[in-house]
Order: sequence, then structure tokens, then C-alpha cells
Amino acid sequence: MRKPLIAANWKMFLNVKEAADLAGAVCNGNTDYSKTDVMLAPSFTNITAVSEAVKSSGKPVIVAAQNVYTEESGAFTGEVSIPMIKGAGAGAVILGHSERRNVFKETDEFINAKVHKSIEAGLTVVLCVGELLQEREAGVAFEVVLAQLGKSLAGVKDLNKVVIAYEPVWAIGTGKTASPEDAQAMHAEIRRFITRIYGEHTAKSVRILYGGSVKPDNIADLMKKDDIDGALVGGASLKADSFLKIINF
Ligand code: PGA
Repeated sequence: MRKPLIAANWKMFLNVKEAADLAGAVCNGNTDYSKTDVMLAPSFTNITAVSEAVKSSGKPVIVAAQNVYTEESGAFTGEVSIPMIKGAGAGAVILGHSERRNVFKETDEFINAKVHKSIEAGLTVVLCVGELLQEREAGVAFEVVLAQLGKSLAGVKDLNKVVIAYEPVWAIGTGKTASPEDAQAMHAEIRRFITRIYGEHTAKSVRILYGGSVKPDNIADLMKKDDIDGALVGGASLKADSFLKIINF
């Protein structure tokens, strides 16, 4: 049985105090952590404050960074390293988010290097994949997503610390969710791919999250699907009440 994971991606929102307050409010919610894992991904500047808020609540909430650089230290102005995010309290990192891929032009090869370094450092990796609207309309969504997955995971031997997040780009921040059936079809395809490369045991245990306009009123139908193991939530994670409703789907 795969334990659901509900992850908040706070993107480039919230100042230090707002992030700490929101983390505190989420941790104060009535969540059964034996049934669901919860992750919060604040911006770099807010990781320390969010980690402290989580720690003082005593709740087993995972704190994640939204990105990281491959090198440990050096002359890389503006970058943030794995030791830095770990030191700030992160136990996980989101990699390959479509905004990293499309706005910042990150390649699968670069994402793959970050995946390797993050796993070596003991971080949990939430690896995002997803097709653009024109790719879906052209009927190549499966191909695109599996190619991203294959390249981003190249050389990765063990998926123990990897969570996959399928996020169709056309559904992110647009209010358009993939239908539970379309999401399930992609998740099943991803799981078949994992079976081919890593075997059935791994494929059965790896969690595949859906992301893209997940809201309190659509989470339950998504979670009914066999291969949907949780959600990566942007907009609806920025308010404690809506995020808690999603956690308690
Ligand atoms: P959204 O974002 O829930 O606001 O669509 C999801 C994401 O980008 O992770």
C-alpha cells in the first residue's frame, strides 16, 4: 500500500513571517499522519523559519526546497547548494518543476544531475514531469512525459527516495484540472514505465502525485484513482483551510 503524500508548493509567494505562520497553521490542523504524509515547500529564504515552525509543532511534516544547485559550494552567484538547504532544515527537494523547465530553460540533463546529487545527499526528490498543451493536442503527451522521466532518471539505480509528480503544464495555475481519468491514464503509463526499468516491486511502491489546479473540491475524485498517490498543490496550498481540506480529502 502506498501512503498518500500531499505536498504544498508555495512557489515565489509569502515572506518569512507569512510562511512560518502558514506552516504553523497547517501543523495545527487535525491531520492523521498515520494515513497521509504532508510536505511543505517554501522558498529558500523561508526554509529555516518553516522548519522551526514544524519542529515546534512536533508534527512529522516534511520540509522541501523548490530547487537546488548541483555544486556543494563555490563561485556560483545566486545559487543555493544541497548542504545549504539541508542545513536550513529541508529533507526533500522538488526538481524539474515545469516553471524551472519552461521559464528557466532547465534541461533533462541538468535535472538528472540534480536528482543524482540530491539522492546521494539523502534528500527525498519530488521529480516533476508534464506535457505542454500543444503536446497534448498533438497526441504526444505520453511520449513527452516518458522521455522526460527516462532522461531525468538516467543512471538512477534506486527509486526509494524518489516521488514522481505528473503535472500537465496546461493545468498549472489555470483552474483546468486534468480529468481524473486522463490523470489516471498518465499515472498508469508512468507506472508501467517504472515497471519496465525498475521492476514490479519498485513500481508498486513508488508514489506518483498529480499536480495542476488541485483544489478541495476535486482532490477526492483524483485520489479515488488507483495510480494517483497524492498531490502537488500550488495555489490552493497558500491558505491553511483549503490546504487542510486537501490533506483530509
Ligand atoms: P497549481 O500549481 O496547484 O497552482 O496549479 C501546481 C504546481 O505548479 O505545482
